[in-house]
Amino acid sequence: MTEPNAGHLRVAAVTADDAALLRALRCGRIDAPWTVEAEDYIHLTLPSELRSGGTRATGLWNGNDLVAVAAWRMETAPPVCRCFCLATALAWQRRGCARRLKTSVLAQAKAEGKIAVTSLVHEDNAVMRRLNAELGGIEDSPDEDGYHLISIRVS
Ligand SMILES: CC(C)(COP(=O)(O)OP(=O)(O)OC[C@H]1O[C@@H](n2cnc3c(N)ncnc32)[C@H](O)[C@@H]1OP(=O)(O)O)[C@@H](O)C(=O)NCCC(=O)NCCS
Repeated sequence: MTEPNAGHLRVAAVTADDAALLRALRCGRIDAPWTVEAEDYIHLTLPSELRSGGTRATGLWNGNDLVAVAAWRMETAPPVCRCFCLATALAWQRRGCARRLKTSVLAQAKAEGKIAVTSLVHEDNAVMRRLNAELGGIEDSPDEDGYHLISIRVS
């Protein structure tokens, strides 16, 4: 694909009916284990979570192709949006897809009265940490597995 940027892509919900497209989305790189974890979640866990409810997802679509996905759950106590995953297909990375999707999740959380969007990001995932920092994210110290809890306030 040679699209110059993600500007023409459409933001729309991803549902359990899109399981085959989720299983086709490749974001894992062998040299970055946390990206393989994200890909496994998208392929193996997200389709059934969407089927059973609670977890919601939105995507960036190039026609009928899914090029990026964000998955989250709105909590009530505390009133936060927990973002489980944000991933862009390898061929579409570095074109603003993740920024656009995360901004859309932030807007949705705010619209639903949440105070923050949280995510767990591995300490070596410099790309995701940088994006979250640019969007106002505050990081806790990493846990024993090297994951930072990052919170972005929306209220
Ligand atoms: C992290 C990820 C979602 C970023 O997706 P993306 O669509 O390429 O990101 P964007 O193009 O929107 O970039 C947003 C910002 O992230 C940072 N960034 C993105 N790619 C980068 C790279 N290769 N090197 C350094 N910074 C980078 C930059 O700050 C960038 O902003 P800029 O382009 O204005 O400099 C993508 O690399 C991915 O899918 N990784 C695997 C899954 C994953 O690890 N998800 C997080 C845990 S669930």
